[in-house]
Amino acid sequence: MRIIGTGSAIPKMAVTNDMLSQFLDTSDEWIVPRTGIRTRHVITDEKLEDLGTLAASRALEMAGLRAEDIDFFLCSNVICEYATPSLSCIIASKLGITAPCIDINCACPGFLYAMDIAETYYKAGKARNVLIVCAEEPTKMCDWNDRSTCVLFGDGAAAAVLGPGENILGTRLHSQPAPDKIWETIPLNSTPYSQTCTSAVPLQMKGREVFKFAVNASTTEVEALLKELGMTKEQVSWYMVHQANIRIIDAIKQYLGEPEEKFPTNIHDHGNSSSASCLILLDECNRKGLFKEGDILVFSAFGAGLLSAAAVVRW
Ligand code: COA
Repeated sequence: MRIIGTGSAIPKMAVTNDMLSQFLDTSDEWIVPRTGIRTRHVITDEKLEDLGTLAASRALEMAGLRAEDIDFFLCSNVICEYATPSLSCIIASKLGITAPCIDINCACPGFLYAMDIAETYYKAGKARNVLIVCAEEPTKMCDWNDRSTCVLFGDGAAAAVLGPGENILGTRLHSQPAPDKIWETIPLNSTPYSQTCTSAVPLQMKGREVFKFAVNASTTEVEALLKELGMTKEQVSWYMVHQANIRIIDAIKQYLGEPEEKFPTNIHDHGNSSSASCLILLDECNRKGLFKEGDILVFSAFGAGLLSAAAVVRW
């Protein structure tokens, strides 16, 4: 397949570190050096499905396609208001898409998991034009009294339209199951036969362990995928790394021995918006005209699960 359109939609409210320090024992001086984050965009009166729909329409417009041209729709989402129907169905109804709709929850690497599934369907002859939307509102998962998590996240949605082509050169998906590293529970209803034993617990994270996993998984997967494809790092034009933390990106850069200028970032403005991160970055870089035809983009993302993934794409 080939990425033929990208789009994104970001909530209007930008929350600075100084705004957080008005109600939280934190500071710009603590947050910036440890995370790189200066502001994050937070949903206020917007609906996540509307952001997803807007991002998708922008991607469709760039691709020059209409809703009826899409024959497979994947939506990556960790949490939203609806348990059912799926977020993809809700967004599809707003766009007028009637193709099969599937939601996936692969946390932060969700875009790369979706791209892998899209490519597999394409190669099996089951899809020609695929829409991927990553729509996330992790700020609704956090305890806003917990300074170790809430300062890290931001909301947003982004989309990619994939059309026929041979430009997804390879993908690699990896899991190292460890549900105690990043987790959150939401209560289900009690029944006459079972009292709900799951109480709501907001997002919990073992930050230092996640940090180590992220750096290790990213560098290992990227090097293994390039080797599998018979490619060298010299051929890579851009690394599109999940925007979780600038120190994670710096460590990946250092381990790979690759120069700063190959790593575009936007974490300072957005924070970590889970699976939307990589795709928001892709859209911003694309609209700035950063990529030229033939450029090699290496994607790397990691997150809850623990899951990670890498992909190599020719622009
Ligand atoms: N402001 C001020 N102090 C804070 C703080 C904040 N926002 N968050 C934590 N602290 C404090 C802690 O309470 C602790 O204080 P104590 O020593 O008095 O107990 C101290 O800072 C150190 O906490 P620690 O959690 O060990 O800090 P750290 O150096 O590991 O940095 C992270 C925390 C979250 C920035 C870091 O672990 C990290 O980046 N992890 C990866 C997280 C991530 O990106 N996850 C998503 C992957 S998809």
